[in-house]
Amino acid sequence: MIRIENVRKNYGTFTALDGLTLNAAEGTVLGLLGPNGSGKTTTVKVLTTLLAPDSGDAWVAGHSVSKQPELVRRNLGLSGQYAAVDEKLTAFENLHMVGRLYGMNRRNASARAHELLADFRLTDVAGKRAGAFSGGMRRRLDLAGAVVARPKVVVLDEPTTGLDPRGRLDTWEVVADLVSAGTTVLLTTQYLEEADKLADHIAVINHGSVIAEGSASELKNRAGSERVDITIRNATDLQLASSILAAQTRGSSAPDVEPAALRVSVAAPGGHGVLVRVLAELDARSVPVTEASLRRPTLDDVFLQLTGGSAQPQGHTRKDEVPA
Ligand SMILES: Nc1ncnc2c1ncn2[C@@H]1O[C@H](COP(=O)(O)OP(=O)(O)O)[C@@H](O)[C@H]1O
Ligand SMILES: [Mg+2]
Repeated sequence: MIRIENVRKNYGTFTALDGLTLNAAEGTVLGLLGPNGSGKTTTVKVLTTLLAPDSGDAWVAGHSVSKQPELVRRNLGLSGQYAAVDEKLTAFENLHMVGRLYGMNRRNASARAHELLADFRLTDVAGKRAGAFSGGMRRRLDLAGAVVARPKVVVLDEPTTGLDPRGRLDTWEVVADLVSAGTTVLLTTQYLEEADKLADHIAVINHGSVIAEGSASELKNRAGSERVDITIRNATDLQLASSILAAQTRGSSAPDVEPAALRVSVAAPGGHGVLVRVLAELDARSVPVTEASLRRPTLDDVFLQLTGGSAQPQGHTRKDEVPA
């Protein structure tokens, strides 16, 4: 339903998309995960025909963005990085206007607006001006606007950036509803947790190309094995705890020691048994333990491992990049 093939896009001499290739099957959510400046919005603009690729092509529902932009737009709804609602209009008027722009008559536009206000839990504020809305309500209204014409594909560019936790949860819910109704979604995000929660398939991008893809659990598996983390009470036991961890994992990898946190951790394939043996040994040697855990790698660990760095902003930043 979504296909992006070897797309390159330069801004002057700066390469924003460097041979990007992505696919999403019908009814699935493709999560495009990357830090600020990695090329997410540029990808969205190419896919939604707002920006022509320098080379390569993209298809929405089988229609090429470069050869059939009209057909692409007819099959697609967009909710941009900065929610585009008319602040002077009420929630109802915003949706009614979008329906009219899509060529619906007044009655149909009105019926569709009411239906969407209910779906996106905005009925209570239908008559309120959007300018008075919270970030989460504004985002829901914007999402509702994106699906007025029942598109097959919906593109959401960082739908929860800048929202409070409540707004984020609400947005996740409406995205999940869209998907259960059969819509194919491309969602960009900087949040590993969000990609983990919503996406069937995750593509991690860095400097305009995909550096890893798979399901959340596939990506986590690539970040290596589980880890055993032990926090002890007394700094004088750090050395002993570290040697016990090393012994119980047969020295397969050196334990990390964080003296300030009184913590030692080690990669532990088959972690459960290791944890049990480590605790037994610490107990036998009378080392007081304050915390012990078995931790699966998070998507954050994946990103770190893939890029050798944290998810920091990259590329050149623009002055007009203000949060919604
Ligand atoms: N219109 C533009 N002119 C020049 N550089 C741009 C323009 N738009 C984006 N960029 C640069 O291209 C890179 C990718 O931008 P963008 O696709 O917006 O990233 P993201 O959405 O992942 O934060 C960034 O380094 C950004 O500064
Ligand atoms: Mg962006």
